[in-house]
Parts: sequence; C-alpha cells; structure tokens
Amino acid sequence: MDKIRINGGRLLQGSIKVSGAKNAALPLLAATLLTPGTHTLHNVPDLRDTRTMLMLLQTLGATWERSGGSVQINTTDLTGAEAPYDLVKTMRASVLVLGPLLTRTGRARVSLPGGCAIGARPINFHLRGFEQLGAVTHLESGYVEARVEGMLTGNTIYFDIPSVTGTENVLMASVKASGTTLIRNAAKEPEVGNLIDMLTAMGARIEGRDTDCLTVTGVTSLQATEATIIPDRIEAGTYAIAVGATGGELEITDCDPSHLPVLMEKLRVIGMTIEAKKNSIIASCPLNNQGHSCPLQAVDITTMPYPGFPTDLQAQFMALMIQCNGTSIIHETIFENRFMHVAELQRLGAKINIDGATAVVSGIARNKLIGAPMMATDLRASASLVIAGLSASGITEISRIYHLERGYENMVEKLRHVGAEIEQITD
Ligand code: EPU
Repeated sequence: MDKIRINGGRLLQGSIKVSGAKNAALPLLAATLLTPGTHTLHNVPDLRDTRTMLMLLQTLGATWERSGGSVQINTTDLTGAEAPYDLVKTMRASVLVLGPLLTRTGRARVSLPGGCAIGARPINFHLRGFEQLGAVTHLESGYVEARVEGMLTGNTIYFDIPSVTGTENVLMASVKASGTTLIRNAAKEPEVGNLIDMLTAMGARIEGRDTDCLTVTGVTSLQATEATIIPDRIEAGTYAIAVGATGGELEITDCDPSHLPVLMEKLRVIGMTIEAKKNSIIASCPLNNQGHSCPLQAVDITTMPYPGFPTDLQAQFMALMIQCNGTSIIHETIFENRFMHVAELQRLGAKINIDGATAVVSGIARNKLIGAPMMATDLRASASLVIAGLSASGITEISRIYHLERGYENMVEKLRHVGAEIEQITD
C-alpha cells in the first residue's frame, strides 16, 4: 500500500493550480442520468471518487469518454437502476443517483451507505423528500428502494438541517415533478449552485439559487447539456492553510475566493497576508528581519453550513492551530466523529484536548513539532496530516493515503512543485 513520505520544514513558494471540485463533480455526473443524450462536463477532477461515480454510471448503462479535464457521458440507453454495495461502500455519494433515476425511470435501488469514519451520516432527509414527492421507499437486504407509480408530484419539503447531498438529490427528483416543489432550509453551498446551473441549462426551472428556499416548477422535458465544474474551494483552502503552517508565499490559482469567506477572514486574523483576486488567492506569512516566518496567533472556529466555516477544512485548520501562539477552540457542529486526526497530530507533539464536539488546541512553536509515522483515517484528516508533516521537522510517513486520492488531484506533485520535500512511496 502506498505511503506519503515528507521531509518537513521547507517553505512553500510558488503557484498551485486548483482542480475542479469533487463535491460538485459528483452531483453533476449523477445529473447526466436525468435525460437521454450526450452530456459534456468540463473541469472534472480525475480522482478516485469521480472514477467511482463514472463506474457507477457505466453500471447503469451509460458510456463515457474522458479527454483531459472534459468527460462526455452518453446516458441514452440505461440498462439498470441499481447502485451496488461494492461501489456505494467505497463512496457514499453514490446515493446521488437516487433522485435522477427516480425522475428518469420511476425506480431506483441503492445500497444503503453504512456509517463512515466521520459519523453515522444517515440519508433519512433524502428519503423523506422523495416520499413527500409521492415516491414509496423501503429497505430490504441492505438496499433502499424508491419507486413511484406515474409521476412525482411537487410538494413543500423542509430539511431539519441543510443537507448538501439531500438538497441535490431532492432537486434532481423534483425537476420534472408535476406542479411546484419548495425546498425549505436548503443547503446554499456553491456546489448546489453549480448543480442548479446545470439543471437550468438542461431546461429545469429553479428559483432561489444561493438561498435556503428553492422553488422548482416541474417541466415536461429536459435536454442533454454541457457544464463546467466549479473550482474546489476545499482544495484551495487546504493550500492556503498549508502555507500558514510552513511559511512562504503561494499563489493559489484557478479558484474562486468568494467561496471561502470565513477561512480568508480567519487567516487574516491569525496574521497571514491574504490577497483575494478574481480567480486566485495570494497567501503568505509575514517574515521577521532575519527572514524567518513570524509566529501566527491562534483563533477559534466553529464549523457551520455554507457560508460558515466548512467542516471539510476543520482538520486542516487544526494542523495550523497546533503551531500558533495561544489557544484555539475548535467546535465541530456538522459531524459527530470528525476529530480522528487529533490522535495522529498528537504523535507529532501537538497539544490538543477533546471535550465532546470541542477541541482545545494549545499552540506550540512551529519548530517544536517532530515528524513521526501517522495513519490517515479519512479524506480531510489525511490532508491535515500532510500539512502537519510539511511543517514538522524531520521525516513523517503517512499510511493509508488512498483516502487522500479520493479528493485531492495530484497533491504530492502540486506540493513538490512549490518546494515541499514530499513523495509517494510503495510500502
Ligand atoms: N444529515 C442527516 N440526515 C440526512 C442527511 C444529513 O441527519 O439525511 C445530517 C448529517 O449527518 C450531518 C448534516 O446533516 O450532520 C449535514 O450533512 P450533509 O447531508 O450536508 O452532508 P453530505 O451531503 O452527506 C456533503 C459533502 C461532505 C461535506 C458535507 C458537509 C458531498 C459529496 N459530500 O456531505 O464532504 O462534509 O456535505 O458540508 O458533497 C468531503 O468532501 O470530505 C465530505 C465529507
């Protein structure tokens, strides 16, 4: 199994290009199931998760071809309506095919995703939404099946919590439902906006983009379309945090700074210089008169649905806070088990105490972290370990890096290109 080996303590300097967003690519790929024809998606990151979604589309009868960042998907002849356990167990976002299949064929069967490393992650909001549109759902042999006799019918759907994939799934189920569907307390993440733009280009009628109330007026037909995946805000944020941890200056290009409002504010508060341009961010750490990076100041964060601080950057931000002056209180409100990285960061010397959903981080000087072997537990925790390893002195080896490959395109090459001493090795 592959590992990442880092010789830490190098400044990051140069330019890093951000890839398309994993969490936008997955729903947009699923949306191609809504209507027959050839769809073209641009800026599709080549990741383990996007490959899994393409494999799932293929299992359902679609054909596809990749050329660089563009993928053409032909969904004319669907041959099945089932997402099997083998695919769902590797990527829970497979549930995103439920909504479009229900719209297209009136039936969908998807292996129920179990809990995962960051929490129980039920899909009850998705299923309740489908039922409110007139579908019947039931669970059998580990599979959840949704069916509708005739047409889905518009209704008002209220989410207890703004669920990202729940909003996306229900949107895809409602675009051809008769009448009007209101989705209240909808997720406002930019990835939802990207999906709304694609659905609109397909002929759907959706109002309320970027708000928590979406109004969908059912249409009778949709057509195949072309869409571009937005830049990955979590990848951009990860590199901005990394340069805070190592020192140096990075130009993070091909991103949308407006998608990271709270992170940029927090990085400024701790003492970094953050310049937001139209499609790039220049992030740097101030230097003292000996040319060394000045220490940064700890700050508190609470994860929240967009536009709040993203839970998908909590672990990475903690890897920065462990080496800032003072105490940082990190409160995780989205997932109940998202501190798996803490025990690993402690192996480098980090001082962190956990009390329920709160981590209290007591910063130590940057050069006091010492590299050690660590194990990745999930995607964002892996990125956090990489950041910690880049700033710790000496050698850090991170195992189980397949988690990282799910969501970061060419991370090792990108970091090496800006001065990190990092390599992927086969154990
Ligand atoms: N929830 C329920 N029932 C549901 C759905 C959600 O109780 O039916 C709860 C969840 O347990 C959680 C909260 O609602 O406490 C919000 O979860 P949400 O549904 O928004 O999460 P998700 O749609 O499953 C997406 C991203 C995650 C990201 C979260 C939160 C995709 C494919 N995944 O998950 O991304 O953390 O939103 O922003 O879009 C990642 O990329 O590493 C990742 C985990």
